[in-house]
Amino acid sequence: MSSDKAFYLTTPIYYVNDAPHIGHAYTTTAGDVLTRWHRQRGERVWFLTGVDEHGQKVMRTAEANGVAPQEWADRLVETAWLPVLETIDAANDDFIRTTSDRHTERVQRFLQSLKDKGEIYEGKYDGPYCVACEEFKLPGDLLDGEGDYAGQKVCPIHGRPVEQVSETNWFFRLSAYAEKLLAHYDANPLAVQPQSAYNEVTSFLRGGLQDLSISRSSFDWGIPVPWDPSQVVYVWFDALLNYATAVGLGDEPGTPGAEQFAATWPADVHLVGKDILRFHAVIWPAMLMAAELPLPKQVFAHGWLLVGGEKMSKTKLTGIAPSQIIDTFGSDAFRYYFLRSITFGSDGSFSWEDMSARYTAELANGLGNLASRGAAMVGKYFDGVLPAPGEYAEAELSLQRHLSGTVDVADEAMLRLDFQSATGAVKSYVDAVNLYVTEQAPWALAKDPANGERLATVLYTICESLRAIAVLHHAVMPKATALIWEQLGAEPALGPIGVQSVLDAGRWGQLPAGATITKGAILFPRLEEPAS
Ligand code: ME8
Ligand code: MG
Repeated sequence: MSSDKAFYLTTPIYYVNDAPHIGHAYTTTAGDVLTRWHRQRGERVWFLTGVDEHGQKVMRTAEANGVAPQEWADRLVETAWLPVLETIDAANDDFIRTTSDRHTERVQRFLQSLKDKGEIYEGKYDGPYCVACEEFKLPGDLLDGEGDYAGQKVCPIHGRPVEQVSETNWFFRLSAYAEKLLAHYDANPLAVQPQSAYNEVTSFLRGGLQDLSISRSSFDWGIPVPWDPSQVVYVWFDALLNYATAVGLGDEPGTPGAEQFAATWPADVHLVGKDILRFHAVIWPAMLMAAELPLPKQVFAHGWLLVGGEKMSKTKLTGIAPSQIIDTFGSDAFRYYFLRSITFGSDGSFSWEDMSARYTAELANGLGNLASRGAAMVGKYFDGVLPAPGEYAEAELSLQRHLSGTVDVADEAMLRLDFQSATGAVKSYVDAVNLYVTEQAPWALAKDPANGERLATVLYTICESLRAIAVLHHAVMPKATALIWEQLGAEPALGPIGVQSVLDAGRWGQLPAGATITKGAILFPRLEEPAS
């Protein structure tokens, strides 16, 4: 592998049948945090997100709203899917739409190449289909409906009746890849994570695979099959290809597309929710194998955000919009909360009480209070000019060791996508510094001029700790850490916060004496007490 290959991370491309809820924002936030962290490790990074515009689900929603599917998709992208990236403060490098020319042309070329290789044949499909999943189901996948749906078979994810499809379609020889995929996963145990997802995929593969219908003929909202325009490409076959079409799949050697592909593919991480694990860990790598392309290094399937014990969903209208939370707490607290409170890979329930409690304890009283106390005391006792430290005592040396351990733990956890441990490590360091402030009581030292050097050492230690905390928390809380950076007057000497190396964050003494410390805005304002 060439050393200049980017760390390439993708999110699912989301259906534009409705506006995003916090489940979609959760995946994109996790991807944003991980890619920011890799950038701060000094790596070249490519972070892709986007939208999935084809298929019956989107088509029917558009029809129900009395507009053409393209118009519906354009409207949702402009008014909802692009704006939410701003709302959650995502720094994606690209945004792919499946109705774009770059995607359409590359999908058609890919399909034609598989056809030419004998991987695609014509056949008859007869079986159940869930439009909410956009998935051909096996009878064993379905549950018996209850209540309104008694007597019908329903999708276990959406709880809605499936439809019977009977069409002549084009099929992909998926069945030929079960053994090859098993061998691949046997040799690459980290290729599907977490372990529960790996187990699910390998046990599914051991049951064998059936060939997959990859086109539909009963509607026309999709990419035309190049050799048979009476059919459109099955929406998942179209959608999975986005990860490769977005970076130049199949372009002529020597073109910018080919160069981008060489510098980006394969993906390092496909982040997905566990609802779409099999598409990503079975169908997608088989498509790539058929085309003799390198496989993604990892598919990571996270859990579901639950509301009232059920998966939050657009289809079931249980979605909470990200802005409902961010208007109150801000985007930093949103990002911090979801990564800190839920084990990545497991389901998690959202509650306002839990969110408020953690916000108050860890952000307002924890980090926010430390930053404001540090800046205020340098202002009061040293006119806002950071003093040089004197000799360090054991209290300071111990904090310095703690910090260097924090860097190791946080980096190791981030690389495993264990956001909870990574943010937890930085949080414990914040706690340790807050305890240090209480124990050293600079306000008491300040009462006697004989303690001048000791006071300088303590205040320097607090500010230098805040420097490191800002660097380590930047990927999770870009806005608050940029404010800390400003309050510390760090930029003239150290450069912008976004380029600070996380790996070097533990090297003590980077913030220079003489830096201008200012008491800026409150980072995490206290929540107003609900009227009683
Ligand atoms: O499946 N909890 O799009 P989609 C956590 N277009 N994450 C959730 C969630 C929840 N309750 N609800 C949604 C599709 N998500 C296809 C993908 S990719 C080639 C095509 C997140 O709009 C999670 O990442 O239904 C999930 O996998 C994704 O949104 C599904 O979004
Ligand atoms: Mg869905």
